Amino acid sequence: MELELELALAIALVLAVGSWTQEVFPKEAQTLNWSKFSGFWYIIAIATDTQGFLPPRDKRKLGASVVKMHKTGQLRVAIAFSRPQGCQSREVTLKKDRKRPVFRNTLKGVKGFHVLSTDYTYGLVYLRLGRAGNNYKSLLLFNRQNISSFLSLREFLDTCYILQLTKQATILPKDDSCAHTIRP
Ligand SMILES: *[C@@H]1O[C@H](CO)[C@@H](O)[C@H](O)[C@H]1NC(C)=O
Ligand SMILES: *[C@@H]1O[C@H](CO)[C@@H](O)[C@H](O)[C@H]1NC(C)=O
Repeated sequence: MELELELALAIALVLAVGSWTQEVFPKEAQTLNWSKFSGFWYIIAIATDTQGFLPPRDKRKLGASVVKMHKTGQLRVAIAFSRPQGCQSREVTLKKDRKRPVFRNTLKGVKGFHVLSTDYTYGLVYLRLGRAGNNYKSLLLFNRQNISSFLSLREFLDTCYILQLTKQATILPKDDSCAHTIRP
């Protein structure tokens, strides 16, 4: 209930500031320090147009990601999520685009892993998945802690609005039992 109120308030705020956010996106972190961005993250919130990605409300848990930059310039990304089938994790190696700060592995169905913004305590990650003509977009709010600041939550919801994912925005319950399955 509290979360829903928080979400409703934040959405109201987003609608109020919607006009300036258009100019802000896309704002990729051009000068991202990947070794600083590496390590363990909680996934505090998600918005996705992938049907049936999340389990029912009472089975949802915090997600997690472990990001590791290799010397070869490849990015290793593990993600754990509570899914309808239970806690699932997946790991994939991504290669950087020649020109843009985007990592992908189209063979594995990852069309793009973009860090839209970060201060290294939180991160806004835009994930594009799908094969061939199928395209799914997800926005993830990363945080080093199991909570998020109001400002990062607002930025997440602003970006959901721009990506037209506002209706799919979900703040995950603070149960870390799935997240900790990939904690190093
Ligand atoms: C990137 O971050 C690492 C780890 O925090 C730090 O040691 C390094 O100096 C940073 N590199 C740059 C170019 O700022
Ligand atoms: C969140 O993390 C803190 C510090 O690591 C921990 O003490 C607390 O129990 C966690 N909260 C939940 C709800 O898991």
